[in-house]
Amino acid sequence: MSQGVSIAVVGSGYVGLVAAACFAEIGHHVVCVDNDEAKVQVLREGGVPIHEEYLPELLNRHRANRVEFTSDLKAATRGAQAIFIAVGTPQSETGSADLSYVDAVASEIARSIDSYKVIVEKSTVPVYTNEWIRRVLERNGVPQDLFDVASNPEFLREGTAVVDFLHADRIVLGAETERGAAVLRAIYEPLTSGAYYCSEDGVPGPRAADDPPPVLLTTTKAAEIIKHASNAFLATKISFINVVANICEAAGADVEDVARGMGLDARIGPKFLRAGIGYGGSCFPKDVAAFRHVAEQMNVDFGLLEEVEKINAEQKRRFFQKVRSALWTFRGKQIAALGLAFKGGTDDIRESPALEIVELMLREGALVRAYDPAAASRASEIIPAGRQMVYADDPYEAARDADAVVILNDWQEFAELDLGRLRSTMRYPIVVDGRNLFDPAAMAAQGFTYLSVGRPARHPVAGAANGADHAVGQRRS
Ligand code: UGA
Repeated sequence: MSQGVSIAVVGSGYVGLVAAACFAEIGHHVVCVDNDEAKVQVLREGGVPIHEEYLPELLNRHRANRVEFTSDLKAATRGAQAIFIAVGTPQSETGSADLSYVDAVASEIARSIDSYKVIVEKSTVPVYTNEWIRRVLERNGVPQDLFDVASNPEFLREGTAVVDFLHADRIVLGAETERGAAVLRAIYEPLTSGAYYCSEDGVPGPRAADDPPPVLLTTTKAAEIIKHASNAFLATKISFINVVANICEAAGADVEDVARGMGLDARIGPKFLRAGIGYGGSCFPKDVAAFRHVAEQMNVDFGLLEEVEKINAEQKRRFFQKVRSALWTFRGKQIAALGLAFKGGTDDIRESPALEIVELMLREGALVRAYDPAAASRASEIIPAGRQMVYADDPYEAARDADAVVILNDWQEFAELDLGRLRSTMRYPIVVDGRNLFDPAAMAAQGFTYLSVGRPARHPVAGAANGADHAVGQRRS
């Protein structure tokens, strides 16, 4: 492996913390900076503020020697050859990205630079942010030979962030100078050379020594656009399949068959063609809006993205109506909500379609017993437990006496439920599945009325497992 590089990562959110742990894992010395003192303290003491596979192991492995936590940005910056800006870029009221945190960090870096640094945008930012950062430094009197601004967008997904980082599909390095590019190349060399995949205790994943991630060296502007365009394209794929799902539903076809048939075309690919209740999370909603805003600023009509957003909002509404139509009314009904995070595998509830649907059900008078393997504590800060809302410790407890089970995200644990046990605990065996986790025929055979997305509704088959005979689905048919 190459000589370690001294790195400062500013911001210890999902991207910053994962990047810091992974940079340490591939041999660099990392100082992770956050202005939230309490969070820094938790990290120093061995706590991990987010739920992410392999992250606790990597932080434990490197905390004593290769990764430190501080709130002192100046000191961290001084000692670093590369400074990665991984602070939040939330959505502003106009839909554009709010770059005030990036701006504040750039100004602070400008005040403390005393030797050459590469300042790297890791957060998702609109094109031209690199020029803005450069201007902030120049305005603060930093000589041009003391810094380069580069862009190294991150493509990790929450829940699989560490594997996505260390076994990346691609590494995009946007730089204007060879000097800046050389530092970035050195940082990623343990991955791009394949050396990391030879180490015995490395995090396992799809990459191997003879199949390392490809590097794409571009301009900073192209790198910035690659990130926005990738997220916007993936969101478009999801909205597209969701509309196709609605057509399937009307026509009596199965969207899973259709998605498989489309995905087998290598030009389309099978990923991100899972129909459901719409995309959420801290990235897609914000990035689609921000990219649309970038287009607007540049006088480019990107109405397609407006449609993508509209379809996404409509998909949640349609699903909510589906649940309502299965129950006639929510008032006085007890619903088991399985899933609160915006997807399975994470405790993140930002822009969670699951939470939005729970809120709608509560508003219409339902009693909700919710379960999520990781997100309940965060969700309870938004929807406190009370008379109408109960947080259950397991899915069966959530389903006790339920009029319906509503599946709102795709935790593996949900797909592996003991269906007989689930059915026996429910009042009526109705499952409304927003993530298509089950085979409809198998659900009917198990005695459930089963409604999912883009697939025909199924009702308990005669002679199905006991309990089926009082299914509401049967009463309705
Ligand atoms: C997304 C991108 O996938 C990452 O590449 C990117 O780095 C990240 O945003 C970011 O910009 O930081 P993430 O938000 O963690 O990652 O989640 P995804 O796995 O992409 O899922 C986003 C949403 O789309 C979820 O609500 C998920 O349930 C939904 N989804 C995903 C579908 O409805 N259908 C699909 O087929 C796939």
